[in-house]
Amino acid sequence: MSTQSTANGAAKPDAAKSGLEGVVVARTELSEVDGLQGRLTIRGYDVEELAGRASFEEVAYLLWHGELPSSSELERLQGQIAEYRRLPDEARAAVELAAKRMGPMDALRFGVAALSADDPNPDDESPEAHLDRAIRLVARVPVVVATYQRLRTGGELVEPRDDLSIAGNVLYQMTGKEAEAPEVKGLDTYLVTVADHGMNASTFTARVIASTAADMVSAITGAIGALKGPLHGGAPGPALTMIEEIGSPERAEPWMRDAVTKGKRLMGFGHRVYKVRDPRAEVLYTAAEILADETGEREALALAQEVERVGVQVLAETKPGRNLSTNVEFYTALLLREVGLTPDLFSPAFGIGRTAGWTAHYMEQRAGGRLIRPQSEYIGPRDLRYSDQR
Ligand code: ACO
Repeated sequence: MSTQSTANGAAKPDAAKSGLEGVVVARTELSEVDGLQGRLTIRGYDVEELAGRASFEEVAYLLWHGELPSSSELERLQGQIAEYRRLPDEARAAVELAAKRMGPMDALRFGVAALSADDPNPDDESPEAHLDRAIRLVARVPVVVATYQRLRTGGELVEPRDDLSIAGNVLYQMTGKEAEAPEVKGLDTYLVTVADHGMNASTFTARVIASTAADMVSAITGAIGALKGPLHGGAPGPALTMIEEIGSPERAEPWMRDAVTKGKRLMGFGHRVYKVRDPRAEVLYTAAEILADETGEREALALAQEVERVGVQVLAETKPGRNLSTNVEFYTALLLREVGLTPDLFSPAFGIGRTAGWTAHYMEQRAGGRLIRPQSEYIGPRDLRYSDQR
């Protein structure tokens, strides 16, 4: 970073960069977002290569270890995940409380915060201990979401099943019924697609917390807080509401033009890094299409395609030069609805998938990163006197 000198010779930082746009804050081997080419690389693999082929468990392993697991390594991981699915009493009590009076993202944050309760050795900072914590979190975050959903809809608590995948078990614990294979596959593909994505706001949050040498549960709890906002992980619910309000293809143009004219944002469009269509939109569209072929519900998909086409056109006209295309959240909404999730569970589902990336970033940061401590540019007054105000 270039600096200027102040009168006393101390280094003066450059002016603040709004939203830290373009600022590189970490070196990572985990993922790369190429916003001009519309390419997402995860540990060397294009997202299109993994989604629909590798399971979420395999991709979590890939993020943590740098390579895909052998079949025996995968089997071992699946066994550990099944073993860790039982929540500690503190987390279960937190989720029970949350189901009575909190929204899903607040409940997730509250339940996950209690997951440090049964860490067998909180002072162990070895890579093995961190990896064990990462596995626990990837195993339990879905259980927090599923248990919350089950309880708030008035169902009896459903114990997790050891023989099911993460995607299969979360749907099972929510409903008490084993989900059909296409729904499980749809959710699994979604989790893979959102597992990691460069230095997004929630991952940055996790890395800042990790950089202070705080524990992994604190980092993931903070990341969930960052994910909640509608400019990050909170968009798919509103994106679905938008598509539903539009309702039919001919209403898309007047509806979207009116919204943008009134200064509203079209949810599921635009991205800080992608200047072309988000590659995850394509992956999720394909997954939604496969599922729609199974269920025969293609009408919603056709409407969404038209809304996408018109949205891109309206934004190109009304916001020229901004290059606003569809982002991951747009088809997330359709896919997760087909899977059977209600819109307010879309952001928690995002959190389930991103836990793989957050935990990997935590470990990478702890393994070699420095304290993240940027500066601010002071623009307030100076030399005020206490006595002048009295
Ligand atoms: N609809 C209408 N206008 C938009 C949109 C949108 N979806 N996105 C950006 N713009 C406009 C802004 O109004 C602004 O216009 P102006 O210069 O005339 O004021 C211009 O484009 C630039 O917007 P910024 O907010 O500076 O762009 P930034 O890179 O910070 O925003 C963001 C990225 C937050 C994703 C934005 O595109 C947005 O709000 N999208 C809608 C919400 C959404 O889909 N969020 C999910 C993102 S994906 C994810 O996080 C997983």
